[in-house]
Amino acid sequence: MKFFKVYGRVLALLAPDRNVAIGLAVASLALAGLQFLEPVLFGRVVDVLARSSQMERSAVWAEAFALLTLWISVGLSGIGANTAVALLADRMGHRNRLLVMHDYFQHVLSLPLSFHGDTQSGRLMKVMLVGSDNLFGLWVSFFREHLTTFIAALVLLPLTLAMNWRLGLLLIALVVVFCVLSAYVISRTQTAQERVEWLHSRLAGNAQDALSNVVIVQSFTRLGYEAGLFADTMKQLLDHQFPVLNWWAVVAVLTQAASSVTVILIFLLGTWLHINGLATVGEIVSFMGFATLLIGKLQSAVSFASRLVFQMPSLEEMFSVMDSKSSVPERPDARDIGRAKGEVAFESVGFAYPGGPPILRDITFTAAPGRTLALVGQTGAGKSTAMSMLQRLWDPNEGRITLDGHDLRDLTLMSLRRNIGVVFQESMLFNRTIRENLLVGRPDATEADLELACREAEAFDFIQRQPKGLDTLIGERGTTLSGGQRQRLAIARALLKNPPVLILDEATSALDAATEARVQKALVRLMSGRTTFIIAHRLSTVRDADEILVFEQGSVAERGSFSELVALDGLFAALVKTQLAPATAA
Ligand SMILES: Nc1ncnc2c1ncn2[C@@H]1O[C@H](COP(=O)(O)OP(=O)(O)O)[C@@H](O)[C@H]1O
Ligand SMILES: [Mg+2]
Repeated sequence: MKFFKVYGRVLALLAPDRNVAIGLAVASLALAGLQFLEPVLFGRVVDVLARSSQMERSAVWAEAFALLTLWISVGLSGIGANTAVALLADRMGHRNRLLVMHDYFQHVLSLPLSFHGDTQSGRLMKVMLVGSDNLFGLWVSFFREHLTTFIAALVLLPLTLAMNWRLGLLLIALVVVFCVLSAYVISRTQTAQERVEWLHSRLAGNAQDALSNVVIVQSFTRLGYEAGLFADTMKQLLDHQFPVLNWWAVVAVLTQAASSVTVILIFLLGTWLHINGLATVGEIVSFMGFATLLIGKLQSAVSFASRLVFQMPSLEEMFSVMDSKSSVPERPDARDIGRAKGEVAFESVGFAYPGGPPILRDITFTAAPGRTLALVGQTGAGKSTAMSMLQRLWDPNEGRITLDGHDLRDLTLMSLRRNIGVVFQESMLFNRTIRENLLVGRPDATEADLELACREAEAFDFIQRQPKGLDTLIGERGTTLSGGQRQRLAIARALLKNPPVLILDEATSALDAATEARVQKALVRLMSGRTTFIIAHRLSTVRDADEILVFEQGSVAERGSFSELVALDGLFAALVKTQLAPATAA
C-alpha cells in the first residue's frame, strides 16, 4: 500500500542514524513498561490498604515500604529514559532533516533543464522546505511520543489480560473503537486533503512566479490580477480544508465520549466482578489507571495518524522530485576527455522535444578546431536547440554529435561541459559580488587572472568605477548593471573558463549599436583560438564566419561563406537584402 511505502521510506531515511533509532526504540519500550507499571503499583497499594485491618501493623509497613521503593525506582528510571529519548530524538531529527535538504538540493540542481523548464522554482523550494519540515516533525514526535503508544497498544495491552481478562477485553475494545473510527475518517478525508496540499504548492509556485517578475507585474499594472489569483487559490484551499476539519472535530467529540463510556463501563463491570469475588479493588483501580493512560495516548496517536495522512502528499511530492531521473544519463563507463582540441561534428542529427513535433531534421556539419561557424535563420528555426544539444542538455533522437570524434554520450557530462563556454542574450548572473560571478568561470583564478580577463572583456573600467570594485554586489540577475556591462561580465567569465568550444547565442542581440561595438571587440578576443558557434540576427556579425549555416524549419537549407551565399541569391541573400534595405532607404 502507498501509505506503508511512503512511511517505510520516511523511516529508511534515518539509516545513517540506525543505531540511535534502535536505541530510541529500546528506550521507548522501557518507557511504555514504566508507564504501565504505575497503575499496577497504585492498585497494589489500594489492595494493601484494603487488607490492612486483617494484617499485623509491621507487615503492612513492610509491604508499603517495598511498594514505595519500587515506585521511586520506576519514577527515576522514567525520568532517565524520558531525558535520553528527548535528547536523542531531537538531535537525530535535526541532523537528518538537513541531510535530506542537502541531498534534495544537490539532486534538483543536477536535474536536466527539461525538468526545470516544466517546474516552477518556487514549487521546488516549497516542496523541499515543507517536505523536510514534515519529516522532522514526524521523526521527532514518533520517537519521542508515539512509539511508546504503539508499543503500549501492541505489547502491554495483551498483558493486562493476564491480570484480569474481562477488564482487559474492555480496554482492547476501547482501542479497537479508536482505530476503526480514525481509519474511517482518514479514508473519508484523504482526497480532499490531497487537493489541499496541491493547492498549497500552487500558491507557492504562483507567488514565486509573480515575485520573480515583479517588474512586469508593476509596469503592466497586474497587481490586482496577481493578488486576485492568490486570493482565488486561497479560497479554493479553504473550501477543501474546512470539510476535513469538520470530520476531525467529529472524531474529537466521539473519542471523548468513548473515553467516558469506557471509564463508566470499567466501574460497572468492576463492581459486578468484585461482588462476585472475581476482581480485587486494587485491580479495578489499576484498570481505571490503564484506561486513563490509554485514552490520553490514543487521542494524541489519532492526531498523529491524521498528520501522517495529511502530510503524505507533501512527502510523496518530495520523494517524486528526489526520484526524477536525468534524461541525459551518464554511462557507467563514460570517460573524461580532458581538454578537447575542439572538433565538433553533427552527423544526421534529428530531434524532437518529448511529445512535440520534430524540431531538427538531418543536421550535418563539421567544425574544425578554431573555426567559426554561424547559425542564422528565423526565430524558431531550431538554432538554439541544436546548440543545447551540443552541451548535451538533450540527446539526439537520430544520428550523433561528436567532440574530437567521441560521441557526446560516451563522455562524462562534467568533462563535456568544462570544454564548452556559452554566452547567452541574457547574461544570467548570480545575486552575488562581481568577483564571485567571475570565479564561476574558474574558481582558482588569481587576482591577476581576473584583471586580465576583465581588461580583455572591456569590463575593467566600469568595474573600477563600482563603489567596491570587484566586491560590489550586483543584485538579483545583475539588475544594478546595464545590459552591455552584464554581457561584458559574462564574456570575462567565459574568458576565465577558457574553453576550446564556444557558443554565442544572440550574445549581442539585446544591445544598442554603440554598446554592441564595444562588446563585439571583447567577443572577438574571446573567440580567438576557439571553435565558435555564433547565432546572430544581425548579419554584419557573421560576415567573418568560416561557414554559415542557414536554418529553415529545422533543416540546413543553405551553407557556405558570406560571399558564396550572397552569390547563391537564395534565402540568405534575401535576409541580407531586408537587413540592408532600411539603411539604403535612409
Ligand atoms: N524546452 C522546449 N520544449 C519544447 N519546445 C521547445 C523548447 N525550446 C524550444 N522549443 C521549440 O523548438 C523550436 C525551435 O526553437 P529554438 O531552437 O529556440 O529556435 P531558434 O533558436 O532558432 O529561435 C521552436 O518551435 C520552439 O517553440
Ligand atoms: Mg534561439
